[in-house]
Parts: sequence; C-alpha cells; structure tokens
Amino acid sequence: MIILGIETSCDETAISIIKAKGDLNSLEFEVLGSSINSQIKIHSEFGGVVPNLAKREHKKNLPIVLEDALKKAENELQIANCKLWEKEKPKIDLIFVTVGPGLEPALWTGIEFAKELGEKWHIPVIGTNHMEGHIASVLFKNNELEDKKLQVKTQFGFPSLALLISGGHTEIILLKDWKNKEKIGETKDDAVGEAFDKVARMLKLPYPGGPEISRLAEEARNKNIQLDTKFPRPMIHSHDFNFSFSGLKTAVLYYLKNLKNNTINQENVFSDFEKLAIAREFEDAVVETLLTKTRKAILEYLPKNLIIGGGVIANKTLREKFLMLNKEFNDLNILIPEKSLATDNATMIAAAGYIDYLNGVKNLELKAQGNLEI
Ligand code: KG4
Ligand code: ZN
Repeated sequence: MIILGIETSCDETAISIIKAKGDLNSLEFEVLGSSINSQIKIHSEFGGVVPNLAKREHKKNLPIVLEDALKKAENELQIANCKLWEKEKPKIDLIFVTVGPGLEPALWTGIEFAKELGEKWHIPVIGTNHMEGHIASVLFKNNELEDKKLQVKTQFGFPSLALLISGGHTEIILLKDWKNKEKIGETKDDAVGEAFDKVARMLKLPYPGGPEISRLAEEARNKNIQLDTKFPRPMIHSHDFNFSFSGLKTAVLYYLKNLKNNTINQENVFSDFEKLAIAREFEDAVVETLLTKTRKAILEYLPKNLIIGGGVIANKTLREKFLMLNKEFNDLNILIPEKSLATDNATMIAAAGYIDYLNGVKNLELKAQGNLEI
C-alpha cells in the first residue's frame, strides 16, 4: 500500500510518501519520497511560533512540498510529470493527515489540503494523531538521510513504553499492544522542549532553543566548564511517573537575576562562560530527571521496548544516556528515531496512519483538535 502523510501541526510543512507492507507483527516501511519546509527562520524573529504566520506559510508551501515529495517518488508512483498532480492521479492509496495535537490554524491548512487531494484523486483521507506519529518514528532505522530510500522490518514486542518529549508534550505511554495505549505520566506544567526554548530565551539564544542549549552544553563539557550551583531535578522522588519543568526554568531565572544583581556592568549581564555553564547544568538536570523517571517506569512495567520520540530526542546527550540504559536493562530494546525523524516530519505520520489502518482505523474526525490525546 502506498500512503501519503501530511504534517502541519506546528512550524514544519511536511509531506512524505511511503510504501507500507506487512501486518502488526511485521511492519515493513520504505520511504519513497519525503519533503520538509521548515519555518524556523520566520518564527525565530518572534521568539516562538506565531500561529497565523504558520498558517499562511503552510498554505503557501504545501503544494511546493507535495511536488517535491512526488518528484522524489516519481518512479514508484508511475507519474510522468509531478507538476501535473492536480490532473493526474499518482499511484497512492490513502492519505493520512495530522489532526492534532498542535496549533489549530496550522492543523486546518493540512486538513483542508488533504481533503482537496482526496477529492481530486478519489482516495480516502484519514486523520492521524501527531503523538502516535512520534511513536511510529522509531520504526525507521538506519536512515541517515530522510531522503534515502530504506526498508525496515520491525518485530515488535509488548508491553512497550514510550517516552514522548517534544515542544508541547512530555508524557510516558504504556503500549499494551498497537491499539491499547494508556498514558501513565505527563508533565504538570511545561513540556521539556518548552523548558529548553524558554531557558534559551533567557540566555538570549535564538528559537528553537533546544539545539542551541545542546550546542553550548557540549562546548562546556569539552572545555570543562561547570556551574557553581546545582539546579533542581524536579519530581524525581515522587512515586508517580509525572514531570514538572517550570520549577527548573524558574531556578535558571533566579540564578540569572542573582547574577545580574551581583554584576556591576548591568548591560552585559552574563558572560559566554556563564552561558556555557548554565546550558550544561540545565541540560544535565533535564537528562537526569528524564532518566530517573523512565527507569522507574521500566522497573514497574518491565517493557520489551522503550520508545523515545519527539524533537527533544534529537539532543545528543540524551540520545547517548538513553542508549546506555541497555547496560542496566539487558533485555530492553531501546528505540530512538534518526535525528531527521525526531523532530516533526510526515514520514512518521504516514507510518502511524498505516498502523491505524491495520488496527481498523479509529476514524479521527477531519477537524483540527488542538488538544487531542493519545
Ligand atoms: O517534536 P517537535 O519537532 O515539535 C513538537 O511536536 O513540539 O519538537 C520541538 C522541540 C522544541 O522545543 C525544540 O527546542 C526541541 O524539540 N529540540 C531539542 C533539540 N532539537 C529540538 N531539544 C533539545 N536538544 C535538541 N538538540
Ligand atoms: Zn512533534
């Protein structure tokens, strides 16, 4: 089956065409063509994503991104000219589009575009949950470049746990099988990616802050630069699987305020040295918190797989530390997505769609659902 996925929940306009085969016990995917347009540069001026700007950009870019994805997949799709998609139906069986969670004006652009395509090509359009996409992102492995064609066959055992860490979410999901999922923990306030972005803003770093903090933290480690204070590791001793990141963010804010009060030169409130040290300590606090909570959940639920999805798992230190959990839990299969599939993309949406399809489809309404839950 050939599936086209569409993703416009935030600031990436993405379309991907995949070939999906197999049943729920042996999923097999091949990326035929994938294209992403990132709006990061446009939003970074405003320090965060502006929903109506995102909407305008998605509208403008969707046809361009579609054409690009079709071009990459043109041999498989048996189309003579990818520019003629309005007239000529490519060999695509189903369209899956993100309906939530995300920014509603942005989600609507993808949904409307998907509906139009479905009508033109006379094929069904089905809604997909973005977070299920982040779970499915780990099913593509050994994929250095998203453009590269790849074939993956995954044997998957249950129960599995999924830690989802993105700009809008921090949650742990228990997968009893591909259909039965239960949220066992979530953040009580800020999402972890949001904390990265907010702390980056305090340090006057551009949006999105995750990659910036990550870069500075690495530099600090290389130069052996360390902060004289330890930031809190929120809720690591609580007996549940919940998180909280706003206290950590506030601890950074107070640290900076304190620095400012003690600095004679009020203009240049913190030096590069301090920036590096703060970034490193903040990242360490996040890593330790996520690892501690995940460990607790592993001991409780004894999963066969640990899935980690969402933009924050693009973080180098986190990737290394999570992979090291294998030393503690020998039988645990740790699945993390390739970096290009960690942040938002449409390949994961198409894959999640295929799983829904095999499950008999939940029939998500084709309507933007900003707060859609798993
Ligand atoms: O999954 P994603 O692309 O979008 C949402 O669904 O939210 O995640 C975006 C988040 C942003 O908060 C961004 O700062 C964070 O992922 N992020 C990172 C890194 N790369 C992206 N956080 C830490 N380290 C990174 N290298
Ligand atoms: Zn996401």
